[in-house]
Amino acid sequence: MKTETSDYYITEIKKLKAEKNAIILAHFYQTGDIQDISDFVGDSLALSQKAAANSADIIVFAGVKFMAETAKILAPEKKVLLPDINAGCSLADSCKADDFKKFLKANPGRTVVTYVNTSAEIKALSDIICTSSNAVQIVQSLPPDEKIIFAPDRNLGNYVLNKTGRDIVIWNGTCHVHEEFSLEAIINMKKENPDAKIIVHPECELPVRMVADFIGSTSALLNFTRKDNAKTYIVATEAGIIHQMKKANPLKNYLPAPPRDSTCGCSECSFMKLITLEKIYNCLLNEKPEILLDEDLLIKAQKPIRRMMEISEKLGL
Ligand code: 13P
Ligand code: SF4
Repeated sequence: MKTETSDYYITEIKKLKAEKNAIILAHFYQTGDIQDISDFVGDSLALSQKAAANSADIIVFAGVKFMAETAKILAPEKKVLLPDINAGCSLADSCKADDFKKFLKANPGRTVVTYVNTSAEIKALSDIICTSSNAVQIVQSLPPDEKIIFAPDRNLGNYVLNKTGRDIVIWNGTCHVHEEFSLEAIINMKKENPDAKIIVHPECELPVRMVADFIGSTSALLNFTRKDNAKTYIVATEAGIIHQMKKANPLKNYLPAPPRDSTCGCSECSFMKLITLEKIYNCLLNEKPEILLDEDLLIKAQKPIRRMMEISEKLGL
């Protein structure tokens, strides 16, 4: 809902963006007001592609830290700002560099495919990065007999393993949003809405994926609702994506899949929701918090991300 205060921030943010040649890149999990003032809204892959190719001097990342770091790695000459430096990610936090080094040592001779939801340190230890939009294709692009490590999301890793049949050892990490969906509550919701289609992000657990009519990244879920002819969807990913679904097809119904904790009405990423219009305004005004990375780390992390971008481009993703 728009208020006088949010109108003030929206006007000031627009002025500052023009003055400073800045752009705002927002993930689909941001609140609707932030998505609407952003120059570009997308999933992790599209945001990386946009960060790598734009003419701004400043990128304000309305998302979480690993996304802003990825933008900095792909556009080191630009100033990359994250409106709240505490906007982390439970999945990225589940994979610490020291533990990951031990895991790599215990599983030698494997190609390390790492989900973009990781710190720059983990990326620097990886051979190739992927996002949920291209994880299956990235793994399929490797020679069939190549042994693989997939980190850090065990559900996405399991999904990729089932789709590709490759020899994959999976790191045991999860996302606090996607891990929390209740199969029982989803089934009850489907009973109450028998015509609804269940659409699921691959970070969800196997039992939830098994009842899905469609599985895909946030942008794939959005495209599915755009083209599909159902009237109602049970959406098992962070509820922020529903803003774009409603914009594309306002007459359809989108029901956020319920989490196990029934005291919470919908599934929101507490890190994504740390970003507010006020923080975006302050961050543009003061040009901080800024993402700064050690040059050596940045160069090491750049290689596996660029490899992903090249493969994605070749495959038209
Ligand atoms: P995508 O943006 O690749 O769909 O991933 C969702 C996510 O969890 C981002 O944090
Ligand atoms: Fe991380 Fe999950 Fe939030 Fe995405 S939704 S940023 S994976 S905690």
